[in-house]
Amino acid sequence: MKRYIVANWKLYLSVAKSVQLAQQLVRFERAQKIGRDVEVILAPSMLALSAVALVLKQARSKIKIAAQDCWIADEGAFTGATSPRELRRAGASFVLIGHSERRQHGGEDDALLAKKVAAARAAGLKIIFCVGETKEERNAGRAHSIVRGQVRGVKSEIDLLAYEPRWAIGTGLPIEPHEAAQMHEVLAKEAGNDVPICYGGSVSEKNVAQFLSLPHTNGVLIGTASSTYASLTAIISNARKLSERSLV
Ligand code: PGA
Repeated sequence: MKRYIVANWKLYLSVAKSVQLAQQLVRFERAQKIGRDVEVILAPSMLALSAVALVLKQARSKIKIAAQDCWIADEGAFTGATSPRELRRAGASFVLIGHSERRQHGGEDDALLAKKVAAARAAGLKIIFCVGETKEERNAGRAHSIVRGQVRGVKSEIDLLAYEPRWAIGTGLPIEPHEAAQMHEVLAKEAGNDVPICYGGSVSEKNVAQFLSLPHTNGVLIGTASSTYASLTAIISNARKLSERSLV
């Protein structure tokens, strides 16, 4: 089974540091021969994306690029927006849409996200669609219905789903694996079994094997722990070991 390791660098790294980490990862890829059953996807900040894409291209790397967001149109009177078509041209194969930090800080709702999904697809980008409930919604027993609702309108157009409970993001407190497994089963039923599902929220080298071993789980989306060479490569190595074991 193919495993996805999505490294969401958020706004953690400068352009120079992003390039440096990409160069180190390319050397790691060559030495460790990653890439057969593990798909590594880097999501650098917008300003670093082209430079990171160039590093990967020059090294003929199999590592892919995701943009962290995109706008609903390729061109026009949209001050401050990022064109999906130009992201594709700059070297992105994927785009994250609906990350909780965009929903929360950017006020992005389901209607806007559906437009972004459509524009990104039209530009030839693959969609990593992020969903997740708040702590209050979970405590009220509404987590499954909230997350199903977030997926419903876009499910036929997405390539990868990332379940990220909001309260588990950046806190060092991941969800209990059995609760993630329950949600992934709900999502697999809603979206169809062939859409790969990633877990995100305080994934680290210590817990990654646990999450990757869950049913209906094809990968992880990592923020904090993806922004340093040591922890990201430890996570990739763990994923590779699991893939090798599941081939035996
Ligand atoms: P985290 O972030 O790994 O720092 O919790 C995950 C994410 O927001 O994608």
